[in-house]
Amino acid sequence: MDYPEFKGKTAIATGAASGMALLFLQKMAEHGANVVLTDVNAEAVEAAAEAIRQKGGNAVGVKVDVRKYDEIENSVRIAMEKFGRIDYLMNSAGGCSLRVCKQTGGFLNATPESIEWGVDVNLKGAVLFTRAVLGKMFDQKYGVIINMGSIDGVSGGACLDYTASKCGMIGLSKGIANYGAEHGVRSVCVSPGPVLTRASMAGMRTLLGRAAEPEEVVNLILYICSDKGAFITGCNYMIDGGRSCAAARF
Ligand SMILES: NC(=O)c1ccc[n+]([C@@H]2O[C@H](COP(=O)([O-])OP(=O)(O)OC[C@H]3O[C@@H](n4cnc5c(N)ncnc54)[C@H](O)[C@@H]3O)[C@@H](O)[C@H]2O)c1
Repeated sequence: MDYPEFKGKTAIATGAASGMALLFLQKMAEHGANVVLTDVNAEAVEAAAEAIRQKGGNAVGVKVDVRKYDEIENSVRIAMEKFGRIDYLMNSAGGCSLRVCKQTGGFLNATPESIEWGVDVNLKGAVLFTRAVLGKMFDQKYGVIINMGSIDGVSGGACLDYTASKCGMIGLSKGIANYGAEHGVRSVCVSPGPVLTRASMAGMRTLLGRAAEPEEVVNLILYICSDKGAFITGCNYMIDGGRSCAAARF
């Protein structure tokens, strides 16, 4: 799909050293947008930004732990200094704490530190990043904030901090939509089922018999951000191969 409106705009994303956020910014750069990659992994985010620059894109990599507001503000300052505006924010940093923090024995055995990681990275970081960019978007009278949810936030997964946080991303999107509408700001939660950013996701059942390619989710996000998606705000998009409606089948 052609999106000439992205040319000269600026997109920023969290957790952008890998996965769907990286692919989103790679595609935005291909469409002519300036892109700001942020991630807690400083080396990986700089390498990813350099790869985009090598292909002719305007990209900056900034180390940001979304739990640290001063680091978030620093990346927003760099984006404004270099590109003068921020049009699209994708809050993507996150993951199931039981997996990331290598917890065994399920939620009953999860440490408080693991649970804190889950809520802080999956939800609090998105609220903090929104706080840091929203004023710029209001000033421009333009902006779109995409919050990455999950099927678990709708159907209820057993990693409870993840489930609660991803459900919170739906509420965050609705709140931004209400608060931002009169300032030209839209916000949408995108809730995937299994996505092949990790091979293990291939094992999760869906009605369509497969997991999503990351590109399928990113294509939806690009559409929502584009002028074609201009009437979309305050909602949650499931993109899960029908897994969330499959109670009768599985
Ligand atoms: N992959 C899936 O199957 C799937 C399904 C549903 C929802 N999601 C959600 O989509 C989003 C993206 O998933 P993905 O698989 O593309 O990502 P990923 O796992 O490939 O990347 C996550 C990134 O977040 C970064 N990160 C971790 N802690 C951070 C912190 N404190 N601050 C900043 N960055 C941090 C990591 O370094 C990593 O680069 C996540 O929020 C995830 O929960 C993914």
